[in-house]
Amino acid sequence: MAIIAPSLLAADFLHLGKACEMLNESEAEWFHLDVMDGSFVPNISYGLPVIEQIKKTTTKVMDVHLMIVHPEKYITDFKKAGADILTIHYEACPHLHSTLQQIKAQGMKAGVALNPHTSVEVLKEVIKDIDVVCVMSVNPGFGGQKFIEHTYEKVKALAILIKNVGASTLIEIDGGVTEHNAAALVNAGAHVLVAGTTVFKASDPKAMISLLRKA
Ligand code: DX5
Ligand code: ZN
Repeated sequence: MAIIAPSLLAADFLHLGKACEMLNESEAEWFHLDVMDGSFVPNISYGLPVIEQIKKTTTKVMDVHLMIVHPEKYITDFKKAGADILTIHYEACPHLHSTLQQIKAQGMKAGVALNPHTSVEVLKEVIKDIDVVCVMSVNPGFGGQKFIEHTYEKVKALAILIKNVGASTLIEIDGGVTEHNAAALVNAGAHVLVAGTTVFKASDPKAMISLLRKA
């Protein structure tokens, strides 16, 4: 049984209330919120005011994925906006250990996302301090991209690394997740599946969430 984290990026932005309503009624446990700054990634999505409104409407865990430079500057702001989990990119944090402690000091769970080219080994010394590792299975910046098959190897290596230090870190997969690769990802060691296009473009999003969850 996987935790499903539908990504708002693929929702109809004219009807965000409807997207929240659908999610509340679904079996998804998390709501994945992608913040892009046009600098760390070549796209701009949405930010604090939108997240603040969604927090008022949703009953789900707010899983905020920051694809921004200098994420350490905005930790308090995202806490105030309603983030329960705050994920920052390894590639954007020269002082990762310190930034993780700052996130936890605000009472949030701390996540670290890895771009496709970044090896899981770089997290070895801080893995015990990380609640969620978000393995990017596409290059961050856009929804609807093709899943990178090498992700399976990374997930397996990460699962071993976590086990070796006795940590309870969750492994989250972000990008190109479908009903066709969900089970294989869970078998490889994934606990959380982010799904944007697969959920929001499905004819029955709630049924799709249930299907993914059973992976
Ligand atoms: C990509 C984002 C993803 C995106 C996933 O940069 O981090 O969360 O919304 O979208 P799909 O599921 O459509 O690949
Ligand atoms: Zn994401």
